[in-house]
Formats: sequence, structure tokens, C-alpha cells
Amino acid sequence: MQRQAHLTNGGAELYLQEFAGALVVKYWGRKLTGNLAELQSSRTIPNSDFDQIQYPGINREHSRGWLGYPTIAGHRSGRDWSTNFQLNDLSSNEDSASANFVDEVTKLKLNYKFALDEFGILSVSAALENFGEDYCLNEFIYWLPLPDQANETLDFAGRWSNERNPQRRSIQIGRWVRDSREGKTGHNATIGEIALTSQTNFASGEAWAISLAWSGNHQYLVEQNPDGYKSFGAGEVLAPGEVILKTGEVYEAPVIKAAYSNRGLDGLSEKFHQMLRARKVHPNKSRPLTLNLWEAIYFDHNEEKVKSIIDIAASVGVERVVLDDGWFGSRRNDKSGLGDWQVSKDIWPNGLKPVSDYAASKGIEFGLWFEGEMVNQDSDLYRNHPEWILQEGGRTPPTWRHQLVLDLANPDAYRYILEATHRVISECNIKYIKWDHNRTLIDAGAGGKASYRKQVLAIYSLFAELKKLNPGLEIESCASGGGRIDLGIVEYVDRFWVSDNNDALSRQSIQRWTAQFLPLELLGSHIGPSPSHQTGRELSLSFRASTALFGHSGIEWDISKASNDELAHLANWIEYYKSKRNLIHSGKLVRCDFPDASHYLYGAVTENESIFIFAQIVPTAVSQVPNLRFRDLLPNAKYRVSAAFPAGSVGMMLIKEPEWIKSGVVMSGDLLQEVGLPAPILQPAQALIIEIKKEN
Ligand code: DGJ
Repeated sequence: MQRQAHLTNGGAELYLQEFAGALVVKYWGRKLTGNLAELQSSRTIPNSDFDQIQYPGINREHSRGWLGYPTIAGHRSGRDWSTNFQLNDLSSNEDSASANFVDEVTKLKLNYKFALDEFGILSVSAALENFGEDYCLNEFIYWLPLPDQANETLDFAGRWSNERNPQRRSIQIGRWVRDSREGKTGHNATIGEIALTSQTNFASGEAWAISLAWSGNHQYLVEQNPDGYKSFGAGEVLAPGEVILKTGEVYEAPVIKAAYSNRGLDGLSEKFHQMLRARKVHPNKSRPLTLNLWEAIYFDHNEEKVKSIIDIAASVGVERVVLDDGWFGSRRNDKSGLGDWQVSKDIWPNGLKPVSDYAASKGIEFGLWFEGEMVNQDSDLYRNHPEWILQEGGRTPPTWRHQLVLDLANPDAYRYILEATHRVISECNIKYIKWDHNRTLIDAGAGGKASYRKQVLAIYSLFAELKKLNPGLEIESCASGGGRIDLGIVEYVDRFWVSDNNDALSRQSIQRWTAQFLPLELLGSHIGPSPSHQTGRELSLSFRASTALFGHSGIEWDISKASNDELAHLANWIEYYKSKRNLIHSGKLVRCDFPDASHYLYGAVTENESIFIFAQIVPTAVSQVPNLRFRDLLPNAKYRVSAAFPAGSVGMMLIKEPEWIKSGVVMSGDLLQEVGLPAPILQPAQALIIEIKKEN
């Protein structure tokens, strides 16, 4: 009798079956009706092939006839290079399974855990145990099969200030690899790999996604073998010799989260968002409107100036002010002081407590910036402990933004950073920190061995300890913008700085695709100044504000330079954000497939109320823009639709604008979805906010 495990939950189904000691994923996807045990073998024996059908299973072993990319690669000084795991124990219940394998020859044990949650997200974790001599693990990659109809992939690429550009391509024979070897997740990191059909769009079609819960070196792979078999996988990238397991030691691979949707890309994001929102650690308080001071003052710190900005912030309704880089040690520019986490007496002679108290007296929470993994060579920390940096071969790694990386797996360095940052946080009663990471790791060695993996585990542990020491502390993950956004660090942080680029037009696309995996309430989205400090582009306040609305909103701008008119609009917009944030932060993200690629139409949808934005990305060629057809409304319900102008008027190129924009309209969900409303022709880089409320 072949052993099997059959998991169902959240509309998804996973069926694992044993074949001669291997474990095969026979089915993963939507919950089907029917007995999966009746599924026929999908393999035949063609000419010029093995004499018996081979089932390499989830371990994809060469010894079982697997000729594609393996799950495990490793050896003992060249020996024990080919595993042949035998399924030892397979136990399962309705929504989870555990599979234990053993290979008596290579002296390795492997345990997998599978779990399907109520949203249909599949979690897979694996632990490899060595019970022989030292075993050098080169690689462990999780793989899941893709069905024949999955013929394209979608993932994201980018750079500083232009993260998460979508790339969609067809799956062909060979292997597509998206890897990151920066020691952190990376600006170019994709966050997840998606397989889909060529017809799949936001609203419809099939899509499969995997995302690795890891914040260091990693890779995603999509493979089609010469026999046509398709699969995708993800795992850590290990440096040579980085994981050498001694007898009894275990390598715990970072978990993967996988989802299937037959409701397009939005169906996928809904599952990831639901899964994240259901966690105990998910922020559950209303997300405070945040003013971050970086672009307002850069390194030009001054108590009076900061207090004067706090005054204005309070007058417009800001709820949190964050003091960015430059408050500590000799950090008057980015060449010096990093690592010296003591408040600078030169620029903050009274310490930070007065300003933090001042903010509190105005009802504003005070937050602070750190970059605890880094050090400038021109710092007391480096002068005292040059041996604490990550390096290899006695070389000092090339500097990047004049900084080097501390070895946080070194207990002394770790303790210093934990204590120094905790001291400031507790002394100033700080409940929010922005934790930056502004360089790539190069030659990240410690004691002659690669230490990328240990560095990631150390920062997870440090964040957990800081939170334990400072109950209620929130952490924002920033890495020169969106360089550390992933499902690993999300368990330790409460917000992501999506990009250093605050140009709202650039942000439209960056936020749209970051939200593929992360819900809007985790995505820091600020109104920057005009012209933008990154792109030099001038954009209207109304467009900047509407763009910033769809996230955890804030401001990144010296508002002491804003005109009275701008301040009035800001105050209005902040009030609007406060009235809509619970909707935006709990609603389903709906990205409509607008027929004209020059516009985005998307929103947050709840049962009774939705809010959409119609944003022009590039000017249209046509003068009658396609109708606004909304989604996820109830066909039979009546809805009142109206335009909102929380931050001033919206530029349109029209003699006569659609009637509903002025007066609102009541229509059935069916009409709004099937026919839609006439769209205005907007001026370049303008956006219209649209409210949709169900009538009783
Ligand atoms: C990069 C971050 O992304 C910015 O927001 C800012 O915090 C600077 N670092 C400070 O050095």
C-alpha cells in the first residue's frame, strides 16, 4: 500500500504519494471534487529512456533518475555526494503533514513539514540532519510542480529608487533563475516567483506563487526539463562551506509560502495579505500618519528646527514624527559616526528626551532611525573594535556609502549593538524605530568562514530581543528604501520603507507591485516634496497625496517650507486618511485590468465601502478614455459612487467632465462592473479618488 498524505484547507489541496521510498507531489492547487487517489500516473516510458518509470519525488535525486536541478547538493570531502532518501515516516491530518526521510548511506535525515492554512497558503519547511561525519551542504531548494498550462513567469527586478519592476516571460526548456547575493534581500529581489498562464491578469486566470521567508542570499528558479516537466523552487544561496553540519547538527531551511489562485494575480495577493493579516504580530492599531524628517533636514539637525516642524506637524494632524539619520556620535554626514549610538552632544546638547517629550506634549509619537548592522571607519566603534567587521582573507571589504558591516554573529558586537540601541530607545521612551541597511555585504566572513546566513539569523534575533525589551516597539525595515522586504523579516517588523523614491509617479508602480505580496498597511508611503529629491520631477500635491493614501501614509518633506494653501490641503488630506485608513488597511486590494495601459485603476474593497484611485501614468492616445469598470462589487447591490478631492482639485483636460464626478451617482454593482462609468481625461500625472458606498 502506497502511503499518502492528503491536505485540504482554504480552498486548496495538496496530495502527496509515496513511490518506492520517494514522496511525490501528485497534486497541488484548487480543491477538487473527486478522490485524488484515482489520479493516473502522468508518466510513460518513451523510447530511449529508463526501463522502469522513475519517480524522483520532492527530493529530486539523481539516484532516482532525476536529471534536472536537485533539491539537495552536498558532500563529505567529495564523498556522499549522491543521496537516496527513503521515506521513513509519513504522518498527516486534514491540513498538515510531516515526512521523515533517512539515507543510511550518506547518513542524513530529512524532515519536511507541510501545512495548508485557512486561506489556502501552503507552508513548507525542511530540516536536514547529519548523523555522519562533517557534511558540507551546498544547497537546499524547495520545489513544487507546475501544471502544463502554467506557461509564463512573473517576477520583479529593480535598483535603488526603482524597485519591483515586473518582468513577465514565457517558460521554456531550461532554467530561469532570480538570485540575490547581496547578503540582504536586495533592491533587485523579487519577493516571490509567480507562474501563470498567458491569459492570467489581475482579475482572472490561474497563478501559482512561492515566496521564501528569508532576508539574505536566496534564489528562485523556474525549470522546464526536456521531458516537459515544469516546476518552480526557492531556497537560500549558501556561500562555499557556509553550512558544514557536524554530527547531530541540523540545517533548517527558511520556510516557503506558496499559493494557488484561479482568480488572477489579485486572488494571489488576497491570500498572502489574509495570511499576513491573521498573524498575532500583525500591527493591529490604526497606522499613525507619519512624518519622517530625512528629506526635511537631512544631516542638518537642530532642536529648534525640529520643534518648529513638530509644531506644524501637530497643526495638520501628524501622529508620529521620526528623526532620521544624523542624531548620534560624529554623524554630521555619511562619512562618520555610524556605530556610535550615543546622542550627539554637539547637536543635541539636551539629548533627545526634550524633543521626544515636546512631540508627546503635542500628541505626537517620536520615532528614531538606526542602522545597527553598520559602521563607519571614522567612528569610535571601529577605532575600538576593527575586528568586529565582516571580512575575509585579512582584507577590508570595499566600502559602500563609506561603511562596513559589523559581524552580528559575534556575541560581543551583538551585545554592544543591542545594549546601545536599547539604551536610547528606553531612555527616550521610543515606540518606533526605522532600521536601515545601506550597503551590500561583500566578503562577509568571520573566523575564515562565510557568515551571510548567521548575519540574517542575528538580525532576526536582535529585533526580537529589542521588542521584548521594549514592549510595544514597532520597527520599520528600510534598506536604502526597499532593499529588505520579504516574508522572513515581516515576522519581526511592522512596516517597510518601500523605496527611497518619493516621486509619486514612480511610486505608483513600485507600490502596485510590492503589494503583490505585502498588504498596504505595511507599506510606508509618503508625500514627498515637489520637485522630487530623487527624480527632480514636479508633481501636484493632489497627485502626491492620492498616491500616498494607498499605504501606511506619511510625509517626507520639510513642511515648514509648505505654503499655507499646501498646509490646508495637507490637513484636509490627513483627516481624510484617518477616516479611510481602516478601510484601506483591511480591504481587499483590487487592481482592475484597465484596457488602456496608460492608467491604473485600483482600490481597497470591503463589504460596504470601497475606495479606488484612477491614476494617469502616461497620457492616453485617445480622447475618450475607456470606462471605469470596477470589481468585486455585489451585482445586485446599489452603490453610491462619488469623487473625492482630499488634497485639492484634480487637473482634467475637458470642457465637460462626466456628470457623476460633480454630483455622484447611484448604480447597481452589475452596471458598475460590466459597463462602468465614463472616465475623465486627466492631465499627466493626475489621479482621481473614487468612493463607492453600498446603499441600504
Ligand atoms: C536610506 C534610507 O532609505 C533613507 O530613508 C534615509 O533613512 C537614509 N538612508 C539615511 O541615511
